[in-house]
Amino acid sequence: MKKVRIALIGCGAAGMSHLKAMLSVRGLQLKAVCDLNRKYAKRAAEFAGVPFYLDAETLMKREELDGVAIIATAHAHYPLLMLAARHKLHAICEKPLTLKPAEGKRVVAAFKRARRLLAVTFTFRYVPSTRRLKQFIDKGTIGKVLEVRHVGWGGLAEKYRAGTENRVKYDRMYEGDIRGILFDCGVHTFDLFRWLSGGEYVKFLGMGVCHKGYDYPDSGSVLCEMDNGVRCLYEHGPLPHYMNGADGIPLGTMCVAGTKGSLVFKIAVVRRNGHYLSEFQVHTKRGSRSEMVPLYGKLRDKQYADFVRSVRAGKLRGSFPSPEEANKATDAACRAVDAVLRNVVGTRRAARAAARRY
Ligand SMILES: NC(=O)c1ccc[n+]([C@@H]2O[C@H](COP(=O)([O-])OP(=O)(O)OC[C@H]3O[C@@H](n4cnc5c(N)ncnc54)[C@H](O)[C@@H]3O)[C@@H](O)[C@H]2O)c1
Repeated sequence: MKKVRIALIGCGAAGMSHLKAMLSVRGLQLKAVCDLNRKYAKRAAEFAGVPFYLDAETLMKREELDGVAIIATAHAHYPLLMLAARHKLHAICEKPLTLKPAEGKRVVAAFKRARRLLAVTFTFRYVPSTRRLKQFIDKGTIGKVLEVRHVGWGGLAEKYRAGTENRVKYDRMYEGDIRGILFDCGVHTFDLFRWLSGGEYVKFLGMGVCHKGYDYPDSGSVLCEMDNGVRCLYEHGPLPHYMNGADGIPLGTMCVAGTKGSLVFKIAVVRRNGHYLSEFQVHTKRGSRSEMVPLYGKLRDKQYADFVRSVRAGKLRGSFPSPEEANKATDAACRAVDAVLRNVVGTRRAARAAARRY
């Protein structure tokens, strides 16, 4: 069968992990890579043994492609996706679809007009434990879902010390339209809340605390009311009690409570042979059980195998959300961040003083 020919755009940290997955998928042919940064483009090209470009439009004009993987910085997704649609290419794109819901709408319409597929790689729709949450909910094991709670994965402020490259990247996430880590990581959660609750967002109540030295709340909580009555709560922050996962990485936890029981997923509990394991628990009247499952498994390989199947079938296969759903996650994350920013406590001066202690 003819291979699906794609090019990678964006060869940073996530791009390199996508690249490794692409190379492992039969049925996919990587034709070229592209990054604005020559060093990153060259590194990826040498790794994969393909040509590199520094400009996405030139790449799209010169290479014979069926699709592109857009793993560039989030603010570049919108122009790159519009360009891909103009060149009649299928696209697999990292989250968030775009930074603004209005841009997302234009992207969705452009791909519809071009009759091309758009798959957004929401990781947690592929993570083994969140897939188990969904399967148990769909089987009715915990009855009707009443609430979904997520204590965030990513109290990054503690980890990303002053003066490091990571810290600069972290600070920049709060600039301009990027709307900080509450948006960047939160968009995963706001997609999961819809997926797991089966409802649509009605209302957001938010609260933020400014306590680690930024002009932006570094911990935030959002309570979401869904149209089917489910309540979803997202808490995200660098508080010490979040920092007790394996190797001191944040121990995110997701719980789903229903009328007949509850499900719990602890994101990274231990590390074995270089891989993080999650704990997945089921609690019902019949008792409780728990199992350890790989945190990520082969999720990126699976995403690319599903993308190849999708292009061949002419419609999205696997666990990708529809492009409209991906945009609903952007919309929810924006509304949630706005709700937090309207209700922030903690003084900026105190926050700045705290920053000097780093
Ligand atoms: N799903 C997940 O769990 C997950 C994890 C990490 C990152 N991400 C997403 O992956 C994307 C990339 O993140 P990252 O951590 O690799 O960032 P990064 O900064 O390490 O790399 C992004 C790269 O994109 C390149 N780039 C920017 N604009 C470009 C353009 N117009 N054309 C070509 N290249 C361009 C930059 O030069 C940079 O090398 C982001 O959307 C991020 O949200 C997702």
